[in-house]
Amino acid sequence: MTRAALLPAVGAELEITDIDLPDPGPGQVRVKLAAAGVCHSDLSLANGTLRAATPVVLGHEGAGTVVSVGEGVTAVSPGATVVLNWAPACGSCHLCGKGEPWLCENAFAGSVQPYATRAGAPVFPGLSVAAFAEETVVSERALVPLPDGVPLTSAALLGCAVLTGYGAVHHAARVRAGESAVVLGLGGVGLAVLQGLRIAGAGPVIAVDVTPEKEALARSCGATDFLVADELTPKAVRKLTSGQGADHAFECVGRAATIRAAWDSTRRGGRTTVVGVGRKEDTFALNALEVFHFARTLSACVYGNADPARELPLLADHVRAGRLDLDALITDRITLDEIPDAFTRMQSGKGGRSLVVF
Ligand code: APR
Ligand code: ZN
Repeated sequence: MTRAALLPAVGAELEITDIDLPDPGPGQVRVKLAAAGVCHSDLSLANGTLRAATPVVLGHEGAGTVVSVGEGVTAVSPGATVVLNWAPACGSCHLCGKGEPWLCENAFAGSVQPYATRAGAPVFPGLSVAAFAEETVVSERALVPLPDGVPLTSAALLGCAVLTGYGAVHHAARVRAGESAVVLGLGGVGLAVLQGLRIAGAGPVIAVDVTPEKEALARSCGATDFLVADELTPKAVRKLTSGQGADHAFECVGRAATIRAAWDSTRRGGRTTVVGVGRKEDTFALNALEVFHFARTLSACVYGNADPARELPLLADHVRAGRLDLDALITDRITLDEIPDAFTRMQSGKGGRSLVVF
């Protein structure tokens, strides 16, 4: 039995309820959550923008302590502290074989298998890990040992926003010192992109959001300039980048219009990296001449194009050295039953990350 925030159906209200968690089976691990971040992808799953099997326990950005392990588990033992990985790679598909586990064809297989029950009926784990609960049972492939020296609660953010944002800068876009960047959308993910850019030595870094209240938060994460979304024009960006346009743009909203605005803000030959997850009905157009003339790159990245097991120790080095400030991303520490308030805050564009602390 464990207490969980259960979404009975798409569009329904969350219910705080007890669910029955079975003992971990072969290859599985039971984890007691210390904290879980509320990500926009949870809201997108809850409102149907992204598809989820229901009833579901959402939450995919978590960290905690191993309680017990199933048969054959060798990666961790009880008492170990871990960060959850929402895209557990199979290690044997075509793209895992190519060294791109973030694109694993089987990464979401766990999300469509029931992992618990309520009143005898199956419950599904959102993005394989179901972190909006006091305890969860996950595949051992969905865990990364927490490196020493990182506080367990704030470490939850390493599992989605930070890995995604840092990886977008360092692995997808491969930003170099002195390059300029525009970042659209300053939630947990966009703020992590800003910190990744600060570590890369990028500048100027222009942060953009619809809400002007994000300015202070953006500057504390490394932005050198701030524009409210309707001030974002190619001309305004050129003015801040010695007349050129930005070397890089990062779209951290998940909308066609902001992908287009990101593309427009880059220089000739610049690169746009799409980090946000949008809907398939939301489209934008590029004309054939501008595609050639601007010689820009439009790309996207998944989970920071990084292997969580290899990346987390590196991120922990940055945390210990004070270069990566996880706490700067967290604006609200909440309880399980306050997740709906966190969704409301998110929809109104307020605050950074909300973190459920157990
Ligand atoms: N221009 C600029 N910023 C915008 C715009 C816009 N037109 N519309 C919304 N925003 C801002 C919001 O005000 C908010 O600050 O984008 C930010 C999004 O932040 P969150 O909702 O907290 O989302 P986050 O969890 O950071 O995820 C961002 O990445 O992983 C994906 O699914 C996720 O698509 C989502 C994106
Ligand atoms: Zn996420």
